Order: sequence, then structure tokens, then C-alpha cells
Amino acid sequence: MNLFKDMLKENESLFRDEIALDYDFLPKLLPYREKEQFYLANCIKPLLQKRNGKNLLIHGPPGIGKTAAVRHVLRDLENETDDVYPIYINCWKKNTTFKIITDICEQLGYRFTQNKRADELIEEIKKIVNQKTAVFVLDEIDKLEDLEFLYTILEEIYRKSIFLITNYKSWLNSLDERVKSRLTAELVEFRQYNAEETKGILKHRLKYAFVPGVWDDEAFNTAAKRTAELSDIRSGLYLLKESATIAEDNAAKKITLEHVKKAIEKLDEFSIKKSTDLRDDTKSILDIIKKNSNTKIGDLFKLYQENSGSLSYKSFQRKIKKLEQGKYITTEKTQGGEEGNTTIIRYKGTTKKLTDF
Ligand SMILES: Nc1ncnc2c1ncn2[C@@H]1O[C@H](COP(=O)(O)OP(=O)(O)O)[C@@H](O)[C@H]1O
Ligand SMILES: [Mg+2]
Repeated sequence: MNLFKDMLKENESLFRDEIALDYDFLPKLLPYREKEQFYLANCIKPLLQKRNGKNLLIHGPPGIGKTAAVRHVLRDLENETDDVYPIYINCWKKNTTFKIITDICEQLGYRFTQNKRADELIEEIKKIVNQKTAVFVLDEIDKLEDLEFLYTILEEIYRKSIFLITNYKSWLNSLDERVKSRLTAELVEFRQYNAEETKGILKHRLKYAFVPGVWDDEAFNTAAKRTAELSDIRSGLYLLKESATIAEDNAAKKITLEHVKKAIEKLDEFSIKKSTDLRDDTKSILDIIKKNSNTKIGDLFKLYQENSGSLSYKSFQRKIKKLEQGKYITTEKTQGGEEGNTTIIRYKGTTKKLTDF
């Protein structure tokens, strides 16, 4: 037997096209979002006849294709017509009115932005856009620091659709009445994918990203299962890429369960690091849950008190809720049985469950 026979050679790779795993890679097809895309397209359809389109607030948790679906619709629109300006802005990256305005000028191909004030640039944008119609997509709208820009387009652009995207539906409540009433946005909810859909999406991505046959079935299924638990396709793309990278580092020709387990561990560590952002008492509650996963909420509270926690039971419950919303833990209500009704708390980042796969 030759020790090196089954090893990946220096110039070999498991990846066919690594870019297909980038978070902003836009796949040709977006399965399970056909209905949503169709609906969005319908909302902007009047613009093709120089009439006003609808305004939408698109909401739903992260990593479920909100941005991808909207970008898909814009791409189709661009391929279909030159009569509508498709304008996409990520408000996390462009979080002030001035940054947005210069970004829009760039998208419109208007180059004379230097030494011009915001109001002058807005005039230029109006001149250009009002000759046609436009779709404005303001993604991650909750990150926008001032809403002046939103007000401006509402007032000064005649025929448009405005799509606002956010993870938090409640953002709408924070809006000024004058903006809210002008916006009259319809709410569009994106729901989470179920386990089967999640698996389907990742499976589809495998074909773009990897050399055929390099994924062991069990390994892939494990990555897909973990992604479904986290309800976030982005984590899945991370797991696929990281598992393959770990396999390559070991000169393995196949990506196996062992590699995926390591990638999951890394992903978990990652979210724990993120958890250092949590306030101190929330962090100590999370630590207790981590050590005592699968425990009833009442017992956890006792442990918390023994660890000199000082919150009341009510506040403790609220923290648990926060942790659940942040996807650090899961909770399950159980009824009947010896204990009566209670809630079981499980730590989500744990690798403990890995042995169950
Ligand atoms: N239905 C789908 N088919 C293929 N890829 C998808 C699908 N839904 C989401 N994705 C991918 O998952 C990642 C996260 O999606 P994204 O649209 O950025 O999420 P959101 O905006 O909801 O946070 C992106 O890389 C995206 O391409
Ligand atoms: Mg997004």
C-alpha cells in the first residue's frame, strides 16, 4: 500500500468554484422563493407602464433569502427593460444620507459628484430618475442612521417602488408618522425554510461549488441538518466551505463526517465569541445552560441562584427568551408528566449533540 495514494495532490482541489459559496453569490435559480419573487415582480410591474408601483416592507429572520430574492427580481427587471432604474442600497454599508446619495449617483452613472453638496446631488438624481421610473431597494433599513433620504424619495421621485428589507418587522413602528403615512408599505413576510428545503438549497449549491463526488453523504447530511437547526442558509454555506477547507488541509480526497464535525465546532465557537457581546448576566446564564443543556427552566434558575445570580425569576425568564431569539438556545414546552408543565432549555451551540448524528 502506498501511503500517499489516497492523498490530495498539491495541485488538486475539492472546490470547483469557491465563489459559489460566497454570501453574496447570486445563484441562477432561487428555489422555494418563486412565489415571493413573483409577488415582488407584480409590485413593480406598473412602473413598466410609467405608473406608480407598490412599496413593501420585506421582513423575516436572517439568512433566508430576502436579499437574494430581491436582487433576483432586479436582475430580471434589468434584463427585461431599460425603462426602470433598479437601485439597490445596503444601508449597513451606506448608513447615512450622503453615502447613499453618492452610491446612487454611481449606480446611475452620474460622475460629477465631487465638491457637490447633498442637496445638489439630490437634484441631479431627481432629474435623471424622474425621466423614467425606479425601484429603490433599501436593504437592512434598520441600520440607516438618518431617514432623510427615505423622505426625499417619497416626496420627490414621482413614479417608483420602494422595497425596504429588515430582519425586524417592528422597525416600522419606529418610523415617524409623516414618513409612515406617505410610505403606506405593504408587509411581506419571508418565512424560514424547513429542513427539506434547507437541504435542497445546499445540495444545489454543491454542484456549483465542488468537484462531483467529493462529499460523503453522511457528512453532507450532517451539515444540512445543523443548518436547518440554525435556520440560516448562510451558516450552511460556511459549513460547506469550512468542512472542505479542513479536508484539504488534511490532504483528504473526500469530505467526511469528521471534517464537518470540526467545521461545526468552529461555527459554534464563532457564535460563542459573538456572545461576548451579551451583557454579563445573560452571559452567565448562557454559561449555566451550556454546562446543563437539556434542563428544566426551574432547575436552571436554582443553579443560577446558587451561582449568586440576583435576577428575579421573571427577569430570568426574559433573558431566556432573549437567548432563544438570538438562537443561542432552544426551548421546548412540555405538558403533563410527573413534573406538570415546564420548559426544557437546550444549549444550541453545543457539540454534544454531534454524537447523536
Ligand atoms: N432559495 C434559495 N436558493 C439558493 N440560495 C439561497 C436561497 N435562499 C437563500 N440563499 C442563499 O443564502 C444566503 C443568505 O441569503 P440572503 O438573501 O443573503 O439572506 P437574508 O437577506 O434573508 O439575510 C445567500 O448566499 C443566498 O444566496
Ligand atoms: Mg439580507
